[in-house]
Amino acid sequence: MGKISASILSADFMKLGDEIELAGSGGADYIHVDVMDGVFVPLISFGSFVTDRMVGRSRVPWDVHLMAVEPERHIDDFATDDTEYIVVHYEASRHLHRTLEYIRSLGKKNGVALNPATDPRVLDYVIGDIDQVLVMSVNPGFGGQKFIPSSLRKLSELRRMREESGAGYVINIDGGVYPGNAAGIFDAGADMVVSGSGIFAADDPVAALAEFREIAGGRAR
Ligand code: DX5
Ligand code: ZN
Repeated sequence: MGKISASILSADFMKLGDEIELAGSGGADYIHVDVMDGVFVPLISFGSFVTDRMVGRSRVPWDVHLMAVEPERHIDDFATDDTEYIVVHYEASRHLHRTLEYIRSLGKKNGVALNPATDPRVLDYVIGDIDQVLVMSVNPGFGGQKFIPSSLRKLSELRRMREESGAGYVINIDGGVYPGNAAGIFDAGADMVVSGSGIFAADDPVAALAEFREIAGGRAR
């Protein structure tokens, strides 16, 4: 069964609590929390003053995506009771192995996000130390962008690498994922998909989640 992670970047921030409750009760497996620092990506989204208020509201765990330089400086702030994954960018991590270990030392699962131009083989020497690989299928920073097709090949490559190495990471993908292209994405190798506008900008977010659920059923993990 594939998993769905609902990105609140496209939610209505004036009713964030209701939005995350809706996503959790509507069938999302995770709330995807996009933290943007205005340096790694152009804009600032929100920080822990906001996310601390969200704790306890969603009924499903969080999948935190740190789009930040020096991500190690922010990990403690997002290791909340609701956090399952903390994902850092490969391109922003000077000491990736140490950062991955640190996240695990807090009792959380770690993750590494890869920008569209990054070769997944850069993970070779940490492959056994990763809980999630997040394939960016758009350039990070904005919701509502178009899916980059070469991401499908990256999913298959990550599957192959996992089989060959015996590693246990979950393969997740973020950007431009909608009910209309999700089947092909799961078939290419994703265990989990992130969707922001595909859920929160839909006329009926609960119906969109139901569509995702239907597509994810029987696929991947
Ligand atoms: C983009 C973010 C995504 C974003 C995806 O930088 O990391 O999580 O919310 O949005 P959609 O699903 O609209 O492409
Ligand atoms: Zn994201």
